[in-house]
Amino acid sequence: MERDPGGAESGPAQDALGGPMRDRLRRIPVFAGAIPSFDPDSAPEDPVELFAQWLDHAVDAGVPEPHVMNLATADAADRVDSRFLILKDVGPHGWSFATSAQSPKGRDLKDNARAALSCYWPPVGRQVRITGTAAPESSRTSAADFLARSPDARAEALVGGQSAPMDSVARHERELAEARARLAADPELVAPEWTLYTLRPDYVEFWQGAKDRNHIRLRYTATSAGAWERTLLRP
Ligand SMILES: Cc1cc2nc3c(=O)[nH]c(=O)nc-3n(C[C@H](O)[C@H](O)[C@H](O)COP(=O)(O)O)c2cc1C
Repeated sequence: MERDPGGAESGPAQDALGGPMRDRLRRIPVFAGAIPSFDPDSAPEDPVELFAQWLDHAVDAGVPEPHVMNLATADAADRVDSRFLILKDVGPHGWSFATSAQSPKGRDLKDNARAALSCYWPPVGRQVRITGTAAPESSRTSAADFLARSPDARAEALVGGQSAPMDSVARHERELAEARARLAADPELVAPEWTLYTLRPDYVEFWQGAKDRNHIRLRYTATSAGAWERTLLRP
């Protein structure tokens, strides 16, 4: 049967898959895991501390790859983009991630430092949303991050040109082999555009999903006095 991308009818091919897409989507469960309790009244004063508690809890609960976060950026013309990356550190100054300053996201951040990070941990029904201003760390700190990466990850970053069109996989593999050889000859070699950024937050929201949809949301807002104000939000 011909597929009708915008059509509502179901046919044999769709029935074999379980009906029209919207019905199949509706049948997928959400908040199906063992949802933990979250008492916002006993939350710490500092969102970094609560994030660390939630991250440790996620690791203990077996959440896969809980250090993967979505980073949203916008360029100078307000064109928004987002992608996933690895959280490298969290501390008093904020949430750190690393990438090439020459990549589209690196260029976005140069033009517009406002950014957002978010993650969702399905087995525990938890979401964290952070908005703030991202700034590059020193070249020394960025180099240390680069040197701590795996040989494969270093070689890829050394080839560079992240997100640029490429002629062929074969050519890229040759470039990677050259980069591996350069790194083997000089283990201290650092890709100059590799940059560790830290997002200094002005909002951090902790979202605890509930099966009955009575989700608990706690927002931390940075005050001008350098403290954090805590607010409960309607689900
Ligand atoms: C799980 C996961 C982790 C990733 N980690 C990173 C990372 O730490 N740094 C990075 O530059 N790209 C990372 N990527 C690739 C990015 O999602 C993205 O494809 C790439 O950085 C290019 O993004 P841009 O074109 O918006 O700059 C990761 C992708 C996935 C799926």
